[in-house]
Amino acid sequence: MLVLLLACNNGPGKDSDSPPVVTEQGYCAVLTVLDDNCTACHSSSSTLDLATDPYAATVGVASAGYAGQTLVVPGEPDSSLLYLKITDGSGTWGGVMPPSGMLDTTKTEVIRSWIADGASEACDTPDSGGGNPYHPEGWEDPANHGMAAKLSEDNCVACHGSDLGGGGTGVSCDDCHEEGWRSNCTFCHGGEDNSTGAPPVDIRNGNSNVMSAAHTAHVEGTIHAPFDCVQCHKKPVDVLSSGHFLVGDSSPALSEVLFTAGLSPAANWSGSGCSNLYCHGNGQGNNGSIQVGGSAPCGSCHAITSSGQDPWDRMSGEHKKHLEAGFACSECHGDTVDAQEQLQDLSLHVNGRVDIATNAAITYNGSCNGTCHGKEHRAEHF
Ligand code: HEC
Ligand code: HEC
Ligand code: HEC
Ligand code: HEC
Ligand code: HEC
Ligand code: HEC
Ligand code: HEC
Repeated sequence: MLVLLLACNNGPGKDSDSPPVVTEQGYCAVLTVLDDNCTACHSSSSTLDLATDPYAATVGVASAGYAGQTLVVPGEPDSSLLYLKITDGSGTWGGVMPPSGMLDTTKTEVIRSWIADGASEACDTPDSGGGNPYHPEGWEDPANHGMAAKLSEDNCVACHGSDLGGGGTGVSCDDCHEEGWRSNCTFCHGGEDNSTGAPPVDIRNGNSNVMSAAHTAHVEGTIHAPFDCVQCHKKPVDVLSSGHFLVGDSSPALSEVLFTAGLSPAANWSGSGCSNLYCHGNGQGNNGSIQVGGSAPCGSCHAITSSGQDPWDRMSGEHKKHLEAGFACSECHGDTVDAQEQLQDLSLHVNGRVDIATNAAITYNGSCNGTCHGKEHRAEHF
């Protein structure tokens, strides 16, 4: 009875030492039933602890033994495994609880009506004055409920419905939010430098994420076309996209990095830098790396004209020979860079393909044919 005494506000006339007859309604009555029939097994040392804080242990909590089931879904007793375990003798949900035999209906009804009424914790907060029985004071403040949602401190869809339309609670997230919020990528993050949703503003509304500054360079693009999120993440469509944060996210409050759909599918993210990259490599494979905060000037990934002979030597084929002879990059990569070696079409640079554009007198198709600088090439390998 200890749990009961701590959790319930016993009204006048109630004697906590009297026999455990179920007379109260609501959560206090539920506590009585659990305490008398379940906590012998479901104690603090059990997977399902119905003794310490049964409310926190059951309401909106996934079943440990039955995939896809929730122990208590407010408003929906018939979808609540806790209720099914004590009433459904068909065997669908294993043995009935308690194992010694089904409780009589006055007790199972206590649980049914508590869940059907919205599974409130009312007798835990007897002075809440008719306010929201589930959430704490001030919950409507986005700094509270919004942050709890973003950091997955609570399973919003368990009670507000898998479509967030209200579920058993009758409160839809759309009741207050602006239209289109679900797919508005700056509703929760980004928005300071551009409208893509990429930080600086991070999920804690600061700019402390390790990539905060680096995002802008990537998603706006200064030496390449703007990169979409898919280069480094699984890109969600809206708030309910699986793996985003409200549904199917196995690492709450942490942004997963995933390179497989991008230009550097073999890359690794260490938490402070990337390795095995094509993008920061020399154009010959997944051989680049960079630390957050590092810079990427021309010449840092592959050689340029001013790099000199040794770096030229590490370029493929006949680069060195041509560069020694004073050729400009633009003579063979004329669409990508101009004669001053300035990038002129960002969409061709770091796009996963070496773009060749020569003058009309010579063509490249794996090998060179034609005349260049007075020299004839016949199927000459580069
Ligand atoms: C004699 C010990 C015992 C008693 C008493 C008992 N249980 Fe259980 N309970 C178990 C065991 C063992 C399991 C795991 C096997 C299973 O799922 O059937 C279990 C599983 C459960 C589950 C499934 C948990 C999950 O996460 O999948 C629920 C719900 C449950 N019990 C509720 C109750 C309720 C409510 C009571 C009291 C009315 C109760 N049990 C009384 C032993 C007990
Ligand atoms: C265990 C069930 C449950 C869970 C989990 C839950 N809610 Fe609620 N929520 C309710 C109920 C019930 C109400 C409606 C109470 C009422 O009728 O006033 C509610 C109301 C609200 C309201 C309206 C403001 C207020 O205080 O009544 C907001 C906002 C809200 N919930 C946000 C959230 C968010 C965000 C999450 C996830 C972080 C969440 N809820 C998780 C049950 C839940
Ligand atoms: C009682 C009104 C109300 C309800 C109901 C409500 N919200 Fe909010 N929420 C707000 C307000 C106000 C903001 C601030 C943005 C705005 O003005 O639209 C906000 C903002 C947020 C944010 C962004 C917070 C941030 O720091 O970036 C999240 C996330 C959020 N709500 C989640 C939810 C979810 C999930 C639900 C449904 C379970 C929900 N809200 C229901 C009023 C509400
Ligand atoms: C209601 C708030 C909210 C909205 C709206 C939202 N996000 Fe998120 N997003 C989050 C949170 C919270 C995280 C990080 C937490 C996590 O993964 O657990 C996140 C993470 C991400 C990540 C990192 C990968 C991941 O899943 O962790 C990407 C990419 C992302 N969001 C893109 C978008 C895009 C694109 C949109 C618009 C279609 C969008 N987000 C709308 C809250 C939101
Ligand atoms: C060049 C790779 C790259 C691109 C492109 C990229 N991100 Fe990220 N993003 C990262 C990395 C790396 C992290 C840090 C993950 C961590 O915290 O460990 C991150 C973190 C985030 C976070 C988490 C912030 C937080 O507070 O935890 C969000 C949100 C996010 N990205 C959204 C986006 C969106 C939206 C886009 C597309 C518009 C995008 N990112 C494009 C690499 C990228
Ligand atoms: C972050 C690494 C990186 C930096 C910095 C970089 N490049 Fe590149 N560059 C590449 C990669 C990778 C390729 C391989 C082809 C591709 O994917 O476009 C490439 C290819 C090229 C090509 C061949 C033509 C083409 O379209 O593929 C030229 C010319 C070039 N870069 C010039 C430059 C110039 C000029 C700068 C400085 C403004 C520069 N690069 C900075 C990574 C880089
Ligand atoms: C004479 C023609 C020619 C000149 C001049 C030339 N390139 Fe190339 N470049 C090529 C060809 C052809 C390839 C494709 C090689 C292949 O696919 O095997 C290439 C490939 C590349 C690659 C991909 C990585 C590699 O090593 O194959 C980069 C990066 C690159 N060039 C950058 C430059 C830069 C920067 C300059 C100027 C400093 C330059 N190139 C000058 C013809 C040239």
